[in-house]
Amino acid sequence: MSEPPPLHIRRAEAADAAVLAPLMAEWFLAAYGHASDAANTSAFVAANFERAKQAAEIANPDIVTLIAQSDGEMVGYAQVRFATRPPDCVTEASAYELGRFYFAPAHQGRGGAALLMDAVRATARERGGCWLWLLVWQEAPQAIRFYEKQGFAKVGTAVFLVGEDPKADFVLRGLV
Ligand SMILES: CC(C)(COP(=O)(O)OP(=O)(O)OC[C@H]1O[C@@H](n2cnc3c(N)ncnc32)[C@H](O)[C@@H]1OP(=O)(O)O)[C@@H](O)C(=O)NCCC(=O)NCCS
Repeated sequence: MSEPPPLHIRRAEAADAAVLAPLMAEWFLAAYGHASDAANTSAFVAANFERAKQAAEIANPDIVTLIAQSDGEMVGYAQVRFATRPPDCVTEASAYELGRFYFAPAHQGRGGAALLMDAVRATARERGGCWLWLLVWQEAPQAIRFYEKQGFAKVGTAVFLVGEDPKADFVLRGLV
């Protein structure tokens, strides 16, 4: 297989919301559409991935949205959140939330996620972060494996609502 084109990682801008929001919905459904029923996954998409919601998150100074592009196309994104309260099992100071971390299915397994994680760490460091924490569904072995390769460790469990459907997540924590 030929080498994939290089990945360019940048901060999202206001004009990105229109393209990014539907991709967020598409990649969420590709990864987790099977995790609940249609009513709950649709409710989750409507609550999180509408264009206006993404425009607001991009404009929010307490959230940084990073976009990974390949050949001019968005292929992944991550969100670092600076103002969310960590779960009680995360006791370290200066711990920021890695709120979302997604690659398009066709761009997984190509090494891009490690580059995006480097950018996430740099973003957290710029704001004085020492730790990152995140929630991941307990039935998402590929994501868990990726985070563990990146030095994250399980420190607890949490409930994550997909619509009204409670899902059992792990809380992972890693050094910036
Ligand atoms: C999480 C994500 C960004 C990681 O990117 P990636 O390109 O898959 O990462 P990598 O290929 O570097 O690592 C994935 C690891 O999982 C392994 N893996 C792949 N499918 C797997 C499966 N079904 N079960 C267990 N491990 C699996 C891979 O072999 C690799 O491990 P290895 O390097 O030891 O072989 C990507 O998988 C993704 O976008 N997933 C869907 C969205 C998601 O779950 N995001 C996280 C939300 S918290």
